[in-house]
Amino acid sequence: MKSKAVRKAVFPVAGLGTRFLPATKAVPKELLPVVDRPLIQYAVDEALEAGIETMIFITGRGKNAIEDHFDVAYELEATQKARGKDLSALEGTRLTPGNAIFIRQQEPLGLGHAIWCARDVIGDEPFAIILPDEFMHGSPGCMRQMVDAHEQIGGNLICALEVPMEQTSSYGVIDPGARNGALTEVKGLVEKPAPGTAPSNLILPGRYILRPEVMTILERQEKGAGGEIQLTDAMAAMIGQGAFHGLTFTGQRFDCGSKIGYVEANLALALERPDMAADMRKIAENLLAATPAA
Ligand code: UTP
Repeated sequence: MKSKAVRKAVFPVAGLGTRFLPATKAVPKELLPVVDRPLIQYAVDEALEAGIETMIFITGRGKNAIEDHFDVAYELEATQKARGKDLSALEGTRLTPGNAIFIRQQEPLGLGHAIWCARDVIGDEPFAIILPDEFMHGSPGCMRQMVDAHEQIGGNLICALEVPMEQTSSYGVIDPGARNGALTEVKGLVEKPAPGTAPSNLILPGRYILRPEVMTILERQEKGAGGEIQLTDAMAAMIGQGAFHGLTFTGQRFDCGSKIGYVEANLALALERPDMAADMRKIAENLLAATPAA
């Protein structure tokens, strides 16, 4: 049976972003820019490219600027127009009310809880989840690759990424079954395994297409690693109830929830941009030559 199309994406953006303090004291982590586009804009662009129509943002206090980012900026647009200035830099930043839904997660009880806050909007359709601080860079984009695979295999599909074994304790980790090209069967999932206990080095880098049944499991509000309601635990409860695969994404991933990954993303994108690449390369070479190795 053909699976229903993926039409909705949830963007959990209610986290406190403590690894980026003081930058994230008043500015949401998701609005930090990589070169000149905020992280959340890349995430929404990725969803739009995958054919997703409805963007559901799970926000919290202090995150109102995300809603403003996707609204009409009347004063800015009118002033720029009156000055005869081009507005192309704002392309993709206006979401119409029917395409953007904002829901408050009143307390940051965990990623699983944030997803559960979208239950009424999701209804009985498969849906995507995109963590904006995990920046996936590629063409076609990560969610497009996942939607294409999901049309073929249905069920639950999560992005899978190989990392060095010593990094696994910071992530959800896959216990892998049979591999078939880019697809790996998911036999088990464990959130933040203690060092030395991870079942593999395949982690979950923040892209999911899940069956709506996950909401019923999240309804139980069971706490997992770190005392938080974990999405990984709810997904693990669905293993054995139909297809469940990991898809290896062809492209680059930058962990922009960490300072190193964020700086790396800025450098990598600036080195690619036709309007900046030549200058950036010189600057990077000069900096490397002038800075003694740590
Ligand atoms: P993180 O674990 O990266 O937490 O959350 P964080 O608060 O964003 O950042 P740090 O670790 O304090 O620096 C993973 C994703 O889940 C969302 C976050 O916004 C992020 O997209 N999240 C997490 C919620 O929406 N609600 C929560 O209760 C927890």
